[in-house]
This record gives sequence, C-alpha cells and structure tokens, in this order.
Amino acid sequence: MSFLSQTGDINSPDRFSQEKRLQIECLLDNTIEAIDDGKDVISGLSKSQKSLPPRYFYDSRGSQLFEQICQLPEYYPTRTEAKILKQYALEIAKLTGACELIELGSGSSTKTRLLLDAYQSLNYPLLYCPIDVSGSILKESACQLLADYPQLQIHGLVSTYEQALTNLRPSSLPHKMVLFLGSTLGNFNPTECDRAFTQIVTALDEGDYFLLGIDLQKPKHILETAYNDSQGVTAAFNLNILQHLNWRFQGNFDPNLFAHRAFYNSTQAQIEMHLVCQQAHSVSLDALDLRVNFEQEETILTEISRKFDLQQIQDYLLVNNLKPLKMWTDPRQWFGVLLSQVQFDEQI
Ligand code: AVJ
Repeated sequence: MSFLSQTGDINSPDRFSQEKRLQIECLLDNTIEAIDDGKDVISGLSKSQKSLPPRYFYDSRGSQLFEQICQLPEYYPTRTEAKILKQYALEIAKLTGACELIELGSGSSTKTRLLLDAYQSLNYPLLYCPIDVSGSILKESACQLLADYPQLQIHGLVSTYEQALTNLRPSSLPHKMVLFLGSTLGNFNPTECDRAFTQIVTALDEGDYFLLGIDLQKPKHILETAYNDSQGVTAAFNLNILQHLNWRFQGNFDPNLFAHRAFYNSTQAQIEMHLVCQQAHSVSLDALDLRVNFEQEETILTEISRKFDLQQIQDYLLVNNLKPLKMWTDPRQWFGVLLSQVQFDEQI
C-alpha cells in the first residue's frame, strides 16, 4: 500500500488538526492488481456484444458529470434516497450504535453527511473510510468533510471496491458498517453481485452492519426519462468513458462517432446504456496493444442499472449471511434503503 497524500486547506486556522485527521491511500497504482489494469477493457471490447466496466465512467470529469446527473429534474434516485436518509438517519444510528462508516463509491459524500450528522448528534466517535476510484473527488470531499466535522477522522482509499475490501484496516470502534448507496449495486449482473456480496461479508465481522440503497422497479417511462435527460448530461457522461480510455490507455476514440442510447429492458428489469457507433471505423488503445473494429450501428454496452424488488433483495441479503433489520422507502416506493447485520449461521 502506498501513502499518497495528507492534504488540508492552507487558509484554515486548524489546518494542522485537519491534516492529522486525514489519511488517503491509493491502491490503484503500485499494487499487484494494478498490473492487471485494462485487462477488463480488453476482454470487454473483445466480446461480440462489446462492453466496458462502468467504473471507467469515473475519472475526474466523469465524477463531475455524475454529480450533475444527481441534480437533474429527471434523475430521481439521488434526491429520493437523500430524503429517506434524512428522515431515518437517526433511527439508523440508534440501531447500529457507534460504528465506523465504510463507503463503497463515496463520490461527493453528500448523502454520507446525513449519517454523520446523526452519529454526531448521538455523540458517537466519527470514523469514515471513503472508497472511490476517482482520487480527485475523494480528496476534495474529504477536505470539505474535515472542515465541517471537527471530530471526524478520515481514512480514504483510492481504489476499486474489491481491492479496498481486502485491504481494510481493523476498526477501533465496536462495529463497522459498509455503506453501498445510490443503487450502485445495480451496475452488477447477478454473478458480479454474488461476488460483491461475498467480498463485503468477508470484510465484515459478525454483528457488523450493511446499509444498502437500491432503485426499485417502476413504470418504463419514468426510468427511461431518468437516463435520457433533456440537457444531455447523461449522454455526455456516457461518452466521457471514451475520453477516459483515450488518456488512460493512449487511445484514439472519437466521441463524435458514437451516440448515447439508454432504454429499459423489462425482462431483465434493467436500464441498459449503450454507445452506438455511427459509422464503421477502427480504434486503437496503444497502452493495451489493442485494436478494435466497429461496424455501423454496433454498440458498446457501458452500463446496466438493475431495478430491484424489496422482497427479493431481502431474501438475497439473508442468503448472504446478512440479516435484514429494517427497510425504509419513500411514499411512491421508488427507492429503498435496507439495514442488515452480519449473522453467520448458528453452529450447534
Ligand atoms: C451510480 C450506477 C447508480 O445506475 O443510475 C446515472 C449511474 N448512469 N445515469 C445509475 C448513472 C446514468 C447510476 N449509478
């Protein structure tokens, strides 16, 4: 593990205290896993239905675009989840007691603040471990959090979920709680979901907590509107994945030769986001020694966003040694937040 930086606001009088409360490690470089960087791109672009892992959306620009998506009138998930958390954060904090918050895909940490407020109001120590593949957004939000929460300690990981979950430090608090908010789970197909749950539960101990936010099934037109906003921010977000690949792997994708397409696949209960090739051409990614041919109308599947059923997800948690404790939803039942607790099968 490599030490990346200790940062603080130079103008702030308690900059020293902020530095002491912040530690950020970058697991993306210098690790064994990093040598595999890009293998997933090669395998995705070599399939007959080409695809890319959604984590490549989130370079610094992509994370900014995602923040913009969260503000769009059409994109209901973020504000619906935030409303639920605002209403029930105190109840969640009381149910778990003091615990270290470990967030997968922390981004701007906006919703995390609602939980931090609740734990703070109960005078619990505040320990936060944000995990994100975008170092820029992680550092920026960590510094803002430290300025706003004088008791907060942050140990951030610039990392994939998988790397982070196998590199967690033992917590000094009685319990840990993994936060997986914003329906990011929806990006995983069932096989990837199984893997992620195994990794999460393995990283936790008996009695630890898991807080999951999921987007729920609802009529097609509401879903499709959320992924085809009128300002074209989602389209820009989708196309930005190509720019990210260009700088990261010395590629020559021309984003003008692709168009955004998003639709709801009701059979699979998932939004599918594609980039549709507008004319036949080929692209190379020099750092990966990869050349890819595209035909006109051929697509790259850049993201699935699965929509869940509250009963099914509770059953799924239980199968994975996570005992559902309580769930909350909004009046329209568009989004769900579930608190569960690690409970391994009782041995006799
Ligand atoms: C961050 C994966 C939950 O699936 O809704 C938003 C990403 N993609 N608009 C989602 C996204 C297009 C988002 N997640």
